[in-house]
Amino acid sequence: MVGNIFIKAINEKPNIVLGLATGATPLPTYCYICNSYKKGKVSLKNVSTYNLDEYVNLGHHDKNSYYYFMHENLFNQTDIQERNIHFLNGNAKNVIKECQKYDKKIEKKPIDIQLLGIGQNGHIGFNEPSQCFSKTTFKTKLTASTIKANSRYFSKSKMPREALTMGIGTIMKAQKIILIATGKKKAKAIKEMLKGQVTPRCPASILNFHSNVEVFLDKDAASLL
Ligand code: F6R
Repeated sequence: MVGNIFIKAINEKPNIVLGLATGATPLPTYCYICNSYKKGKVSLKNVSTYNLDEYVNLGHHDKNSYYYFMHENLFNQTDIQERNIHFLNGNAKNVIKECQKYDKKIEKKPIDIQLLGIGQNGHIGFNEPSQCFSKTTFKTKLTASTIKANSRYFSKSKMPREALTMGIGTIMKAQKIILIATGKKKAKAIKEMLKGQVTPRCPASILNFHSNVEVFLDKDAASLL
């Protein structure tokens, strides 16, 4: 269903700018887009993308990097052009500059649709629960909950403890936001996001202040509503 929203949006605006997430949640959507491309129903030739986040100290070609993940699961299976793909560089020497550069690029070519998953702790991107919302892209320390949830992907190497992520302010500038959540493990975060207060302790709750958000839940993720 979400896949179809993307196909329609790309066909209506072939040079659309997409903000993308990694992880298990968006995989069916990416699979749908790849299949639609293979059937000749869509072209990503003029689409631009910005990914939400990247681990610190993982090069683009590290199999655990989000850059690698996106190429495996979407980019390499479509006709998107590499020059239109934007990523934070987790290996950047000057992290502050890297983050500022990313925000400037997004300002120049703003995001039409931002796709989001949600962490079990309510994070979006890698904006972890904290005392305040971050306005801009920044380097963050991952929480124990995120390390526990994502360590399963790192079979041999140790999972990084830090990441670069679009800030809440950056995410909120997207014209439209689509958040997907699946599975029982997300039910508590979804309840806090939709029924609780808007607070940086549940970063996704800020989406209540965005005027164009669509939330897609399966039965399990919606089970506490
Ligand atoms: C990944 C990201 C994260 C994930 C979230 C859910 O780029 O920004 O916020 O969306 O951790 O991950 P999954 O989908 O693996 O449960």
